[in-house]
Amino acid sequence: MQGKASVKLKFQKAKSNKDIQNICDYNIDAFSDSPDFNWNLDEIQNEVAEGWELYSVMVDDEIIAAVFFKTDKTTLYTKNTAIKVSYQGSGFSHKVKEYFEKVARDKGLKHIAHYCRIDNFRMYSLNESHGYRKTPNKFGPDGQVVEWIKDLN
Ligand SMILES: CC(C)(COP(=O)(O)OP(=O)(O)OC[C@H]1O[C@@H](n2cnc3c(N)ncnc32)[C@H](O)[C@@H]1OP(=O)(O)O)[C@@H](O)C(=O)NCCC(=O)NCCS
Repeated sequence: MQGKASVKLKFQKAKSNKDIQNICDYNIDAFSDSPDFNWNLDEIQNEVAEGWELYSVMVDDEIIAAVFFKTDKTTLYTKNTAIKVSYQGSGFSHKVKEYFEKVARDKGLKHIAHYCRIDNFRMYSLNESHGYRKTPNKFGPDGQVVEWIKDLN
């Protein structure tokens, strides 16, 4: 891999079941943490069927995370898996946040909503550092998913 600061992440939309399968497999032998569902093919396909667009996040040809988003008239709704363990600690989650912001601005949206697990405190500080505020809203069967909002100027 090149120097980490210069690594450019590629975001590639899943367009076929094979793409979804590849994303499902990317973290099969590493810790995988998705915010509000179990990491298996059926559940990932359910997310897509419910309108979440699924993208792989790639360094060279390797998938290092998966991101989901959907939009309504004002808001980009986002969530993502953990960064693949061997790629953590390189600032790639900052680049994922920058990507969400670019997508939202390109679409002329006013807000970004982000969902993460209630115990993902590293994501809390990441969100705060990117100007998100935590709302009181909770989701999931046990209320284990929390919502963050960033208002775009
Ligand atoms: C937490 C997560 C977003 C970090 O992604 P990453 O790209 O590997 O992050 P980095 O280590 O490069 O750090 C990026 C930012 O995340 C936050 N962060 C990372 N590690 C942190 C820690 N130990 N404490 C507080 N904030 C932390 C900081 O905002 C950091 O920014 P900074 O380095 O500019 O201060 C990502 O790994 C993730 O979502 N993990 C899922 C949760 C998880 O691993 N759970 C397992 C046990 S609960």
